[in-house]
Amino acid sequence: MTQLVESTSKLSLGPIEGSIAGPIAGRMAGLGVDFPVMIAPMVGISHVAFRAMLGRYVPAGLKPIIFTEMLSTRRLPSERLDSTAELRCTEGEKSGVDWFVPQILGNEERFITPSIAKLNTLNPWGYDINMGCPATHILKHNWGVRLMGDPKYAADVVRMVRACTDRPVSVKMRGGSDKICDLNYLDEFTQALEEGGADWLTIHARTREQGHEGRADWNLVGEIARRRKLAVVANGDIQTSADALAILRDFGADGVMVARAATVRPWILWQIAEDLGYEQVPLGREGERAPRTLAEEGREFFRACLFLIDDLERYLGDHPEDALKKFSFFAATGARWFMFGHAFWAVTKKPKSLAHLRELISDYRDRFDHPLKARIS
Ligand SMILES: Cc1cc2nc3c(=O)[nH]c(=O)nc-3n(C[C@H](O)[C@H](O)[C@H](O)COP(=O)(O)O)c2cc1C
Repeated sequence: MTQLVESTSKLSLGPIEGSIAGPIAGRMAGLGVDFPVMIAPMVGISHVAFRAMLGRYVPAGLKPIIFTEMLSTRRLPSERLDSTAELRCTEGEKSGVDWFVPQILGNEERFITPSIAKLNTLNPWGYDINMGCPATHILKHNWGVRLMGDPKYAADVVRMVRACTDRPVSVKMRGGSDKICDLNYLDEFTQALEEGGADWLTIHARTREQGHEGRADWNLVGEIARRRKLAVVANGDIQTSADALAILRDFGADGVMVARAATVRPWILWQIAEDLGYEQVPLGREGERAPRTLAEEGREFFRACLFLIDDLERYLGDHPEDALKKFSFFAATGARWFMFGHAFWAVTKKPKSLAHLRELISDYRDRFDHPLKARIS
C-alpha cells in the first residue's frame, strides 16, 4: 500500500476529493486518464453497436476506456476496415472524443506490425495484448494465456507492439495460468512486461481453470499494483458500483474493468461516476440520477435493449442476421441477472428482423416486470 500511496499521492480521482472514504488515486492519471473505469473486451459483445450503447450512459465529459473484442493479427492485415464488422467504429471513436482500445491476439512481428498500422487509421486511444484467453484454438498458436507461460517471450510481444505505436500499450492477463494465482510468478511476469514497455496492465484475477466462474482475487491485483511502477487495473467479478469503489479504495488497484455486468447494467459507468462524486449526467438525462433500485434497473434494461437495437441498425444494419445474433448473445449474457432470464433470452431468438426484435422487446417490457439481481454467483 505504501508504495502506491507514495507514488500517487498528488493525483486525485474524481472531482470532489474528500467526498469519498479516502483519496482514491490512480497511476492511470499519468496516462491522462481521470476516470479509470474500463469496459472489457468480450468476443461477440464488444462490437461497435455495444460500445455506442454504452456511450449513451457515460456522463458528459468523462472518458471511460472501452475495449473492442479480441482481434486476430493473423487476419487483420487482409481485412477491410469498411466491410469487417469487428473493425467498425463510431464517429466519436474515430475523432478521438470517445476512447476505445483494440485488443489484439498474436505473437509474431510480421503480423503485429501491419495489424497495428491498419488499426492506427482508426485512431484508438491505445492497444491491448490478450494474454488471458484460454480457448483451445487460441492456445494452439501460443496466443492468449499461453503467453503467460514465458515472461521473456511475453515481454518480446510487448516490445513488438511498443515499436509500432506511441499510444499506450497494455496487457490483459489472468491471475494465474495454473490452479492457483501464484503471486511470485505474477510478480516476475508483470515485471517482465513492465520492462518490455507496457504502460499498464489488467489482471483478471481468476486462474485459467476458473474460467469466468467463482470469486476473483482482488487482493492479488492490489499486491501486484504495490510491486509495480506501472498502473494495474482489476478485472473479474465486478458486478456493482460498490464492487468497483471497494477495489479502488480498499484493494489498491489503479482502475477497474467491468465485463459481463456491463451487459446487464451498462449504466454502471454512470453509477460509478456518481459514487465518485461526479455531478455530470449522460446527455439527454439531465435532472436524473443513475438507476439504483433493482426495479429501476430492471426497467432501464429494456431501454438499453432498445438503444442497442438502434445502434445495431445504425452500425451493423447491413448484416441483419449477424446483428440479431449479436443481440441474442448480449441478452444471453445479461439474462443471468434476471429472475426469469431464460424466458427473456428465448424471446430474442425469435425475430427475423431488427424491427421485429424491437416490437418483441417493447411488448415484453410492457407485459413483465423484471427486477434484476444485484449479484450472481
Ligand atoms: C462472452 C465473453 C467474451 C470474452 N472475450 C474476451 C476477449 O475477447 N478478450 C479478453 O481479454 N477477455 C475476454 N473475455 C473475458 C472478459 O474480458 C473478462 O476478463 C471476464 O469476463 C471476467 O470479468 P467479469 O467477471 O466481470 O465478467 C470474455 C468474456 C466473455 C464472457
